[in-house]
Amino acid sequence: MRWFAGSDHAAVPLRRQLVALLRALGDEVEDLGTDGEASVDYPDYGAMVGREVAAARARHEDDVFGLVLCGTGIGISIAANKVPGVRCALCHEAFTAQMSRAHNDANVVALGARVVGSGVAETIVRVFRATPFEGGRHANRVAKITALEGGG
Ligand code: RB5
Repeated sequence: MRWFAGSDHAAVPLRRQLVALLRALGDEVEDLGTDGEASVDYPDYGAMVGREVAAARARHEDDVFGLVLCGTGIGISIAANKVPGVRCALCHEAFTAQMSRAHNDANVVALGARVVGSGVAETIVRVFRATPFEGGRHANRVAKITALEGGG
């Protein structure tokens, strides 16, 4: 799998930990930052990751995913979801991570660095990464989400 990762200043250590985890699992990760402690705006990083994932998916590179973090995961997930083609799921534990892939075909996972601990965060990423989309009845529902991007 290939990943694009990004976060604001609130999540730099956790993002680096998760990037290292993905690389240790054999995945390719392009880490888009931020890299310092200086305050930055989470929409910029949600947009950067979202645009990369959407562009790759538009090229039918279906093994490309995004990892985004901010303090709560809320702002950056909202921002990423504004990019057409992105289905970003804010996950707090393994069940939502599993369902976001199995039922929603999420292609970006969001976490809140001030919400989840490092162990839970690693579990979320492992489960998200390992869970395939079930398709079937869920495919039509996901298609309806995509249709909303064109104004519904
Ligand atoms: C930054 O302080 C914080 O607002 C941001 O990381 C995030 O939690 C926003 O949703």
